[in-house]
Amino acid sequence: MSIAIYTKNVKQSQKWKQILRSKLQNEKIEIYPNITNFDSVTFLVCWKPEENLLRKFSNLKAIQSLGAGVDHILDHHIVPSHIQVSKVVDNNLSHDMWEHAMSIILSDMKNLSIHAKNQASKTWKYKKYKRIKDVSIGILGMGIIGKYVAMKFANTGFKVGGWSRSKKEIQNVVSYSEDSGMKSLLLDSDYVVNILPLTKETKGLIDHNFFSNMKKGSYFINIGRGRHVVDADLLSNIDIGHLRGAALDVFQSEPLPKESPFWNHSSIIVTPHIASLTHIDSVYPQVIENYLRLIKGERLLNLVDLTKGY
Ligand code: GLV
Repeated sequence: MSIAIYTKNVKQSQKWKQILRSKLQNEKIEIYPNITNFDSVTFLVCWKPEENLLRKFSNLKAIQSLGAGVDHILDHHIVPSHIQVSKVVDNNLSHDMWEHAMSIILSDMKNLSIHAKNQASKTWKYKKYKRIKDVSIGILGMGIIGKYVAMKFANTGFKVGGWSRSKKEIQNVVSYSEDSGMKSLLLDSDYVVNILPLTKETKGLIDHNFFSNMKKGSYFINIGRGRHVVDADLLSNIDIGHLRGAALDVFQSEPLPKESPFWNHSSIIVTPHIASLTHIDSVYPQVIENYLRLIKGERLLNLVDLTKGY
């Protein structure tokens, strides 16, 4: 039995190796591609594994994603059902997602980017601002992160609705499901925040039909995945003035290519997939716990349902 680490960032892989080594002194821990015996690897710790990577490990028993999402694995690998796949679940990740969305919404409500532009031309100009109690937020995706984000917004005083496959009971959050629920949520929300997992069902879900169901003058925030969105439909809905703008943290292709129209768009904020980052120090205990569970033949923590894809 041994552990393999795969990330595209050498420093990050080394940091993971160091921390796993300090807690699992007797185990063999190697960084891909420097693996002495691929057949002995049972536990793969990874972020964005390259195409066909899994095939190289004939005795793999568990895959630990280094993020909350697992689309980076399932998108281009067929994972046999005997392999357990785990995602990271970390309160810090959920909280960071909320802080990111909250910063964008507050900044927009208080017109900070307009005042910054006015400052540059020494222009003293009032602009009506919004109050939290009058603002409604719609969250798409009520998994662990979505639920947390919805609760934080509701506790801050916003009107909050959340859409998910099945209805949820969350205090002060109106729960929506099904297509009709999506329509009502979009119609009611001043800000729509996407936190859906990327699956076959949700890929391209946020298209012209979706945007035209959003309230006129509302604002779209994407901290889910770029491939949920049909980019041309987003742009056209902003350009015709149906949406007031968008803040995008995730994209079809990352890093966002230089030729993307998003970069120069005056109504779009681009951030570099930074809404939340996995912090090794807060996440390593669950990775170690999962390896120990694997050795003991137990069910791993934070397992992904391979049929659902999240
Ligand atoms: C980040 O996008 C993650 O999946 O953790």
